[in-house]
Amino acid sequence: MNRIFSTIAVLSVAILSMATVHSQTTANSQVPPLLLGAAWYPEQWPEARWDADLALMEKAHLHVVRVGEFAWSSMEPTEGHYDLDWLERAINLAGKHGIYTVLGTPTATPPAWLTAKYPETLRIDENGRRDEHGNRLQYDWSNAKYRALSRAIVERLATRFGHNPYVLGWQLDNEISQISTSDGAHKQFQDWLQKRYGTLDNLNTRWTTAYWSQSYTDWSQIPIPRRGGNPGLMLGWKLFVSDTWRGYLMNQIDVIRPHADARQFITTNTMGFFDGYDHYITEDVLDLAAWDDYVPNGKIDPVRNGMAHDITRGFKRKNFWIMETQPGFVNWSSVNVSLKKGDVRALAWHDIAHGADAVSYWQWRSALNGQEEYHGTLVGADGTPVPLYPEVQQIGAEFEKLGPVLAGTHVDTDVAMLHSYESRWAIEWQRHTDKFDPVAEMGRYYGPLHEATQAVDIVAPNVDLSKYKLVVAPALNLLTDADAKNLIAYVNGGGNLVLTARSAMKNGDNGLQPERQPGPLAALLGGRVEQFYALPEPVPVDGDLLHTKASIWAELLSTSSPDTKVVLRYGKSNGWLDGQPAVISRRVGNGSITYIGTVFDDAAMKTLTEWLLSEAKVTKSKLVVPEGVEASVRQGNGKTLHILVNFADKVETVTLPSPMIDEMHDKHTVREVVLPVSGVAVLSEPR
Ligand code: GAL
Repeated sequence: MNRIFSTIAVLSVAILSMATVHSQTTANSQVPPLLLGAAWYPEQWPEARWDADLALMEKAHLHVVRVGEFAWSSMEPTEGHYDLDWLERAINLAGKHGIYTVLGTPTATPPAWLTAKYPETLRIDENGRRDEHGNRLQYDWSNAKYRALSRAIVERLATRFGHNPYVLGWQLDNEISQISTSDGAHKQFQDWLQKRYGTLDNLNTRWTTAYWSQSYTDWSQIPIPRRGGNPGLMLGWKLFVSDTWRGYLMNQIDVIRPHADARQFITTNTMGFFDGYDHYITEDVLDLAAWDDYVPNGKIDPVRNGMAHDITRGFKRKNFWIMETQPGFVNWSSVNVSLKKGDVRALAWHDIAHGADAVSYWQWRSALNGQEEYHGTLVGADGTPVPLYPEVQQIGAEFEKLGPVLAGTHVDTDVAMLHSYESRWAIEWQRHTDKFDPVAEMGRYYGPLHEATQAVDIVAPNVDLSKYKLVVAPALNLLTDADAKNLIAYVNGGGNLVLTARSAMKNGDNGLQPERQPGPLAALLGGRVEQFYALPEPVPVDGDLLHTKASIWAELLSTSSPDTKVVLRYGKSNGWLDGQPAVISRRVGNGSITYIGTVFDDAAMKTLTEWLLSEAKVTKSKLVVPEGVEASVRQGNGKTLHILVNFADKVETVTLPSPMIDEMHDKHTVREVVLPVSGVAVLSEPR
C-alpha cells in the first residue's frame, strides 16, 4: 500500500493543482501514509450538519471517510433517475477538511423500488424462502438482472467520481457473504460443474458417486447440497460460490476501471476468519485487501486477531486496510462489552504492527433510526463527542506524527504458514472429533511462531514459497496435485516444510488420496500415517526434545526411509499408539520435511517451534518481551521498526537488546521501555 500511497500522493498533488472540478484545495494536499477514518453517512443527515461533523473529524485527525455503501435509494431514487450531486458535495466538502473518501458501491442494499419491481433478484435462502426488503444483502449474487442493475449504478458512480481527486478508492458492496439457492443459481452450478468435469463419467468417478447410489445420468440431476452431502459435491458448491462472488465483483470492476484513475484502488471489506467462500479466488481481482475487525466480547486476543490480520495481508501479500473496527463496542453480540479505556488505541497500533496502513471506525455517528442504534460511535446522536473521542484523537495525532516514519515499511519475514479454505471446509464437514478446530490448530502454531520471530506471513499453498526458510502447514487436509508439486519444489529447493496432524488426506475433489497421508508427499517424507485416532484424553509423548502430553488427535506414523528420523514417540496410550512415532523428520538436500502427527499444548508448542525454527536456521528476534506484550516488526526503506503493545493487565517493562529510538516520544534514545496497561511503543533501530 505504501507504494500505492506514494503514487497517490504524487498524483493527487498533480491532479489537485490542475483541478477544474468543484473541489476546493484541501488543507492536506498529500495523502498521509497512515490513515485514520470513519464510516460517514451524509445521506442520513441534513446537509447543513455536514460541515460540523467534518470539522469534528478533522479535529480528531481523521483523514478518510467511507461513504455511500448503503445509499442506493439516495443515489437512484427511482429506476434510471440518478442523484449524485449530494454525494459530490459531501465528498468535496470532506476534501476541504483534509479528508479523503473511499467510495462504497451501494449494492449491499438494493432500494425498495428495485426489489418490488424485480423480485427475482431477491435471494432464496437455504430453506427455500425468498428474502424480503428491509435488511441488507438480500440479493441473489448470481442473478443476471441484479448484476445489470448493479452495473448501471456503479458505472454512474465511476463516471462521476473516477477522477475526483479526493476519492482514494472503491469498496465493492459490503461484507459479501449471503448466497442464494435459486433455480438460476442451481442451473449455473450445474453448468459450472460441466465446465469443470467435462463429462458425467468423469464427475461420477471423481466423486465416487457409486457410493449411496448417487451416480448422475444428467447434469440437471445434480443438487445444491443444502444440508450436507457428498464431499465432492460440497466442495464443488463452495468453489462455485467463490467463482460466482468473483464474477459478482468483476461485474462492478469492469465498469469502474475504464472510468477511474489508476491511483484509485478497488477493494472489498472481508471478515477475518469467515470462510463462506475461498477469498484467494476473489481477492485475485482486487487491488487491496481490507477487513472488518470486531471484538464483540471487548477482550482483545492478539494471537487470534493477529492471525486474522496476517491472513488478510496474505491475500495480496502487501499492506492492507482495516475498513471497519469498533469505536468501543458493537451491538450484535449477546453482551456487547466495550473495549476498556486505552484498548481502542492498543488495537489500532496492533493493526498497524501487522501491516495495516489505515484504520477506519464503524461508525462516526448513529443514524437516528435503523437497526444499529446501540452501536459504538465517535459522536453521540446529539452530534457531540462521546468519551472515546479524545482517545481516537490521540490515535489520529500519533498516525500523523508517525506516518512518515512508517511510510514504506511492511512486514517482511522468512516464516510462513499456509492457509487453505478447502482444507478448513474438508475438516469442518467431517470433523471426526468436534474438538479439532482447524482455526484453533493454526493458532497453536501461529502464537509461538509470532512470539519468536515477531513477523509471520500466512499465505495460500499455491504461492511461490522460495523466500521462506520455514513453512508450516497446519492441518493442510486437502492437497491438490498442483499444491503438492509446489510444496515438493519448495523442499527440493532447500525449504523446510512442516506438515501437521490431518495433512494431505484429501485430493482436489475432497476424496481420499489413494496413498496414505501425506499422500503425494509421503515419498519425500520417507514416512507416512499408518492410522489416525480421535483421542478421548491426553496421551504421553516423549523424546529428547520433549516429555509432554498430546491430545485431541493422534496419528500413528511410520518411517520407510533410513534417513527419516523419529523425533518424538507416543507413550503408553490406546495400545495402537504405544511406542509408535508421533513426529518424524527428514533432511532433503538443504531443506527438510517434518510431520507432526498430534496436537500439543501451548508449553510443548513453544519448545517444538523453537526446534523447528533452529532446524530451519531462522534467526529469532533479539527483542524479548514479557508475556502479554506483543512485539511486531515492520521493515522497509532501510528502516526496522518495532511496535510493542501491552495487552497484559499490568505495567510491563521491556529491556531492549540494543539502544533504540522512541519514535512516539521525541525520538529519545532508550534502552528500556515501560509500557502501561494498553500502552504502545514504536521504536526504530538506529541506522
Ligand atoms: C459490519 C457491517 C457494518 C456495521 C457493523 C456493525 O459487519 O459491515 O455495516 O453493520 O458490522 O458492527
